[in-house]
Amino acid sequence: MAAKKTCKLAFDVYGTLIDPSGAGDLLTEIMGDCADAFNDLWRSKQLEYSFRRGLMDLYVDFSTCTEDALDYTCEATRQALSADQRASLLARYTTLPAYPDAETGLKKTAAQGHRCFAFSNGSKKAVEELLRKAGLSAYFEGIVSAEDVRTFKPDPEVYAHFCRKAGAEKSEAVLISANPFDVIGAKAYGMRAVWVRRNAETVYDSWGAAPDAVVKDLDGIGEVIREVIGGVL
Ligand code: 2OP
Repeated sequence: MAAKKTCKLAFDVYGTLIDPSGAGDLLTEIMGDCADAFNDLWRSKQLEYSFRRGLMDLYVDFSTCTEDALDYTCEATRQALSADQRASLLARYTTLPAYPDAETGLKKTAAQGHRCFAFSNGSKKAVEELLRKAGLSAYFEGIVSAEDVRTFKPDPEVYAHFCRKAGAEKSEAVLISANPFDVIGAKAYGMRAVWVRRNAETVYDSWGAAPDAVVKDLDGIGEVIREVIGGVL
């Protein structure tokens, strides 16, 4: 009997499994209609700070990038937060909700026998807590965090670290991410990658290697993984 084809799957966390806009209700309470624009700037500065720190070799925990980005966003949008509001927003970031399709998608991939890992720029402790609170921990064999190599995705060192930790060849490691920078980073390293295009308006950077597949959410991920690995294992 032919051996079953299985892969090591690297699920990005923020934006893919867990909704980084999950503090939206608190922001709306604080600043009304400005909440969405504030949230978008906060997230994009958080990522920018991680990229810059990776390049400068000035690693800090990802939560510090989140905190610094919050302070930048307050100043840039002239939103003064009280100490309590700031603390509540940062606390919320540790309990962000999962997307509704995350559990279904994980269930399907796990049923196919793939080995699933959470793979994040967030610290292991922060990701562990998020997954536990979101009820997703049971689907993962482990958490691979960029903190182990003290830099951030899309530094190729982080993807190499994933392959080492998961015991995977590049060709049998598949990233699943809603973040185009992450998909392009994984492809540049030589992994396979599926782009979860949660928002039809999200633009994929035209200069980056195309993803092996695109899905609109994690519901159908099981079938897509089968196709993506079909030609390689
Ligand atoms: C992650 O979880 C930052 O979304 C990114 O690694």
